[in-house]
Amino acid sequence: MRKNFYVTTPIYYVNDVPHIGHAYTTIAADILARYHRQLGEDVFFLTGTDEHGNPVARAAERRGLEPQQHADEMAEKFKALAALVDASNDFFIRTTDPRHVAAVQKFMQQLHDQGDIYLKSYGGLYCAACEAFYAKKDLIGGRCPDHGTFAEEVEEENYFFRLSRYQERLLEHYHHHPDFVLPTTRFNEALSFISGGLEDISISRAALKWGIPIPWDENQVVYVWVDALLNYLTALEFGGGGGEGGSRFWPADYHLMAKDILKFHAVIWPALLMALGYDLPRHLFVHGYLLMGGHKMSKTRGNVLDPVAIIDRFGVDAFRFYCLREVAFGQDGIVSQEGFESRYNSELANDLGNLVSRTVAMIGRYSGGAIPERPAGELEGLPGIVTAHVHDVREAMRIVDLTGALERIWQIVRALNRHVEESAPWALAKDGSRGGELAAVLYNLAEGLRICALLLHSFMPGTSVEILRRLGQRTEASDLSLEAAEWGGLLTGAGITDRGPLFPRLAIS
Ligand code: MSP
Repeated sequence: MRKNFYVTTPIYYVNDVPHIGHAYTTIAADILARYHRQLGEDVFFLTGTDEHGNPVARAAERRGLEPQQHADEMAEKFKALAALVDASNDFFIRTTDPRHVAAVQKFMQQLHDQGDIYLKSYGGLYCAACEAFYAKKDLIGGRCPDHGTFAEEVEEENYFFRLSRYQERLLEHYHHHPDFVLPTTRFNEALSFISGGLEDISISRAALKWGIPIPWDENQVVYVWVDALLNYLTALEFGGGGGEGGSRFWPADYHLMAKDILKFHAVIWPALLMALGYDLPRHLFVHGYLLMGGHKMSKTRGNVLDPVAIIDRFGVDAFRFYCLREVAFGQDGIVSQEGFESRYNSELANDLGNLVSRTVAMIGRYSGGAIPERPAGELEGLPGIVTAHVHDVREAMRIVDLTGALERIWQIVRALNRHVEESAPWALAKDGSRGGELAAVLYNLAEGLRICALLLHSFMPGTSVEILRRLGQRTEASDLSLEAAEWGGLLTGAGITDRGPLFPRLAIS
């Protein structure tokens, strides 16, 4: 039976336009989705938009639009961003979808009927941008630590979820699943938060109109975080992920996110799932922030790098590559235009681009444009090196070390370039007695490059297919499986094509 694999991004708020931070998570999720398809698994990749709540209502008001109209426009922009970065998501969920609304109401009713929800008058310090209450000690001079805006004193009657009930079960789950939250630093953070004691949380809002009505009390709407978290389940019911009740894709394998929303996913979400009788997701993977000039990029701060402009100039694969290559996945890191251009030139134009050009050109020149037959002999030397790296790439991908996997792939690229220098095919070609050696070098280069292209596929899908085409290899989905990344699979005799530089060098001023 085929293994199922379910990966998600957070659903993004539509209170402002998408930026590179959103693109980052979507690209990372896409890489996992594509990689697991290459492993032959049945993949469901979900992304979407979080459309209810105060900030969205306010943003609509500022534009003189109805919230739904505003959300419709913004959701299109997020869909366009997903398409722009070549995301292969299987569905795009919007929380204003009536099917999501109905499913959330059903879940809320269940919690209510079970006695997991009660009514209580509540006052607290509330950050409207986070949609969250803060303890005074967690604010900085009365301001939200994340948004820098003042928290407001709010008093209302709300429905509360008995989160405290689930503390012990949560601790137990963490105890038995040390890889529930990755990387480990985030696991420890979540665990210490839970160990510190959980209080019941307010899961409805009275003063707000833009939300999903509480089914038994039309004067309240569902707290936007509960509405949002449930998307991971509701989308499976109507988004093609396996149908009503006990979908075949649940539990999710990976929820991807940055640390800003860890608490919601690591505490509230598993508790809600326990209450509703669902298994918990296998892993939350918490990546770092892309920073510009040392600050987290955010809409509120305005220091945003525009993915559209970068993709226009460098191509989508260069952008995907840069995001994962520059910043170790799981850690914070700075991205910049200069960093972009320098990696583009050194690693894409020089390392990879040159390797493709010279391999194809040499097969053209020295072998009449056809890949020579596989040389007889041992899997030593280059084949051995490549095979060892393939193993390491797979291992890195298994633990979602996306940056480590890319580094390994680049080690293959560099090993192949070194092989060109060391074996000097141009000298072999001058010596009629060394034709066999020359053919072996050309085969090895083409085979190494083919394997690189397969390993690169999840990161740079277009580039990967282009390299395979230039090598005259087949590029149907079934030809791109990871199983094919084994030494010796090269189609020989295949006609190569030279189509100019893959990544034209940029003149950097
Ligand atoms: N709507 C909630 C999520 C609900 S999920 C059930 C939300 N939306 S958001 O639009 O603010 O998106 C936050 C997420 O966007 C982060 O967790 C991260 O995945 C991504 N990022 C936003 N800015 C980012 C960076 N500067 N760097 C890395 N990731 C960034 O929170």
